[in-house]
Amino acid sequence: MPWCYPNPWTGNTKRVRKVLALLLVLALAALTAATTASAREGSRFHPAVETRLGIVATESPAAAQVGRDVLERGGNAADAAAATVFALNAARPQSCGIGGGGFLVYREANGRSDSIDFRETAPAAFTPDTLVPPGLHKTFTGHLTVGVPGTLAGLDLLLHRYGTRSLAQSIAPAAQLARRGVPVEQSLSDSMAANADRLKLFPAAAAQFLQNGEPYPAGSILRQPDLARSLELIARKGTRAFYGGEIAQRIVDDMHTGATQPGDDHKLELGDFKAYRSKSRRPLVGGYRGRTIVSVPPPSSGGTTLLEMLNILSGYDLRGLGPSSADELHFVAEAQKLAWADRNKYVADPDFVDVPTAGLISPRYGAQRRAEIDPAHAQTYEPGTPPQSSSHHKPGGSPADTNPQASTTHVSIIDSRGNAIALTCTIEQEFGSAVVAPGTGFLLNNELTDFGDPGTANEPGPGKRPRSSMAPTIVVQGRTPVLVVGGAGGARIIMGVVDSVLNVIDFGYDIAHAVDAERTDDPTGTMTIEDARIDASVLDELTARGHTLARVGEYDIRPRVQAAGIDPRTGVRSGVSDPRTDQATLAQRYRARRSR
Ligand code: DON
Repeated sequence: MPWCYPNPWTGNTKRVRKVLALLLVLALAALTAATTASAREGSRFHPAVETRLGIVATESPAAAQVGRDVLERGGNAADAAAATVFALNAARPQSCGIGGGGFLVYREANGRSDSIDFRETAPAAFTPDTLVPPGLHKTFTGHLTVGVPGTLAGLDLLLHRYGTRSLAQSIAPAAQLARRGVPVEQSLSDSMAANADRLKLFPAAAAQFLQNGEPYPAGSILRQPDLARSLELIARKGTRAFYGGEIAQRIVDDMHTGATQPGDDHKLELGDFKAYRSKSRRPLVGGYRGRTIVSVPPPSSGGTTLLEMLNILSGYDLRGLGPSSADELHFVAEAQKLAWADRNKYVADPDFVDVPTAGLISPRYGAQRRAEIDPAHAQTYEPGTPPQSSSHHKPGGSPADTNPQASTTHVSIIDSRGNAIALTCTIEQEFGSAVVAPGTGFLLNNELTDFGDPGTANEPGPGKRPRSSMAPTIVVQGRTPVLVVGGAGGARIIMGVVDSVLNVIDFGYDIAHAVDAERTDDPTGTMTIEDARIDASVLDELTARGHTLARVGEYDIRPRVQAAGIDPRTGVRSGVSDPRTDQATLAQRYRARRSR
């Protein structure tokens, strides 16, 4: 009989089999250890909150409690999201409220998904040139850049389609927070201080958010009786109290009489409110390494840019290259610049502009763009020609993301049944336009500053929605939403979401490490990089390849991500708030007696 190795799977080779099994276990352990070890925790790292029931990730403790309460009373993810957003209006008024707008992606436990666009619209009197002349709006302040708010209409649509509770029920906790008062977080106190001069231009805003001209100290109580009245009025009369009634009238009156500064122009009229509609739009769906990515469609650029980047990156073995290796960071930066060039040229309000959405997110186009990347050299890129692009518009973006104290906020919720929602809401800049119409109690947005120059796809127009970077996204593995994510921070939102997705899918991080990990952002040729956790040799190699680095230390301020997810193996839900912001993720503690 010829000599041969014993076959480990047959005969008397039990010992060999044991050794091989042990080796396999050790190899798997080493692989897992390598994955975890490479997620270098930052100084503010904190683990995720876990539960088998529902989870609410926000950046407002008071609003998270409202959302959790809804889940514990049997409400679903849509109910919890609506109540949380109304509560954010009271507890985090500098970021979000019924004076602003946003986007959401909803995925029912049965796998159906939807997206709702409640972006603000420009008044009928807006033209491509409206924002060109100088004026107070150039400082992100005042009446001219207030778009018709969409948040109330968006939440109303969400509740109608997916909720089990009424608008009035969803509003009640927020009205109570506004009337009884809400503790001022340090972040709110800081933004009151940073925006005091802007708020003082408008007496109703100063009266609501400053005490004798000074910010409320952290821990003090902010009472907002006018907001409580507006919310209670809406609870009684429905959305028409806002869009067709007293509240719209108060805002329009203030448009005509509220300017205290030269150059504070206005365009908004009652007809603009009456014409407003939130819109259900088909979410964008793409694939990445076997997962399904469900994201927001135009007029946000969040979904197209995310999916185009993922298509480009799918051609590289990022896991093999290693997180925050020079190669990985190089390919991500190049993919971002490519996708960004396309975003800036093509993405705008699809009801006004022919956006080649399908082309932008097609894997074939991603492969075409990937071929432009030089592995050894950083480049800048021209927009490509995605399939179906007929746009004649010249390239051009929104005003530069120059706003250092940016705001917006995001909510990620999963309920005990597995329904999931990613919702981002905003009034644009911190404290929005800084305008509060007397008697209304909420800040008006300055969202129309997101329009671009005349002649670009994103030029202003009557009734048009400005392009956004908000990127509420749900990543599905099999049938399980493993990552429900989004963030706040203007154009930087997209990269916060991209990084979270790569960290979960490519590097196998849990969501706490995925959100905590260092980030980069390189839209057009300067790589902002949280360098504190990155090896010096990597930074040197990036510079050698021609990247211009703007080093920002351990935790850059933006984007501020909120994430939740279900572990497909165990069904455990986890949620986490970004260490870069107020942490307010709460787990549902008990199941409702009658859960719907
Ligand atoms: O829609 C957008 O992308 C922005 N208006 C969101 C604003 C924001 O996150 C604050 N930062 N600039």
